Amino acid sequence: MIIAKINGKLCATDGICTHAYAELSNGFLNEEEKTVTCPLHLSAFNLESGVPRNPPAEAPLKTYQVKEEADGVHVLLE
Ligand code: FES
Repeated sequence: MIIAKINGKLCATDGICTHAYAELSNGFLNEEEKTVTCPLHLSAFNLESGVPRNPPAEAPLKTYQVKEEADGVHVLLE
């Protein structure tokens, strides 16, 4: 899972690329574009929607509701 704070807003997504096995935590965060880019074949995923912006990935990342409270960060897992 990736939890990132983008422009002050927390986002949480699955941490494995939907194209092949690559850990997105080793990828590149672009706060301006709200994306994480896979380190293997460079698909960039929107961190709010999980939708890939460019191939080769086609399937979106699963996204999760996340909030920050006084006792920590909470992610709603289904
Ligand atoms: S493994 Fe991520 S784009 Fe291929």
